[in-house]
Amino acid sequence: MKVSIIGAGGLVGSCTAFALQTGKVVKEIALLDVNQEMAEGQALDLLHGSPLIADQKIYSGSYEQVSDSDVICITAGLRRKPDESRLDLINRNVALFISILDEVKKVGYKSCAKIVVVSNPVDLLTSLAVKMLDLPSHQVMGLGTQLDTIRFCSLIARQMDVPPTQVSALILGEHGDSMVPIWSSATVAGLPLEKYPGWTNSLANELFTRTKGSGAEVIKKKGGAGFAVGIAIQRVIEAIALNSHAILPVSSWQTGCYGIRDVSLSVPTVVGAKGVINTLEIDLWPKEIQGLRKSASVLEQTFQKISQSV
Ligand code: 2OP
Repeated sequence: MKVSIIGAGGLVGSCTAFALQTGKVVKEIALLDVNQEMAEGQALDLLHGSPLIADQKIYSGSYEQVSDSDVICITAGLRRKPDESRLDLINRNVALFISILDEVKKVGYKSCAKIVVVSNPVDLLTSLAVKMLDLPSHQVMGLGTQLDTIRFCSLIARQMDVPPTQVSALILGEHGDSMVPIWSSATVAGLPLEKYPGWTNSLANELFTRTKGSGAEVIKKKGGAGFAVGIAIQRVIEAIALNSHAILPVSSWQTGCYGIRDVSLSVPTVVGAKGVINTLEIDLWPKEIQGLRKSASVLEQTFQKISQSV
């Protein structure tokens, strides 16, 4: 499978390329960036490691590389400042994202291509890609709260001193300020988290607050996320490549799950070769469903504003 990463010169894009290289599932990775020299440098750096990893094709290129790609991952965009919300990026990133989609349309893309949007505000840009590209909506998804979910699990694991791979705790809704912690199904090694020794409500609130602020915290400390977001994207793209039917909290165009429609946000989503195979309306607490619907209304209002300019 071939993946093109638009924005691969940057931290998110290059970490995504490295995660895909070490994952060994994807066999061809094209790195595109407005800074061609940087894309070439990233590709060369990755190539140098290939003898110890796998026999993959990894190279930098231009938009021509998009036309035969199975997955087009868009990470390009300006980063927010620590005190900005992801929605604040609208004025800067929407125009750039539209120009990227115009370039993709100009060179053409496979009718079976899957689009993985990472650029922020990811939910709105996912909706924009659904609107602007001539693809079924199930072939377009955004990283959504997949990154928030693994951050959430990592912080719970460290706090409770348990293996991070044994923590299952979902974040759904907007990849942004209205994201929703799903405590109703949170477990450690299959055991209900809320019954775990030492677990308290105040700890729950503290860990969710830290999760929600993790993006800004990383930006403040090191300028922006790279490793975790690359791993999060790898998981989504490999689920497509392997047709694994993995259930992931990715953002996609909603058609009624939890009564939400005509907006992109993250609900439990079965991901496979065709992209979004299905969304699962798992049983949630009433306040969690309310939180999801609040996310939807925040995103709907904002999308109305930007979609008029398209
Ligand atoms: C983050 O939360 C890039 O939105 C991403 O770090």
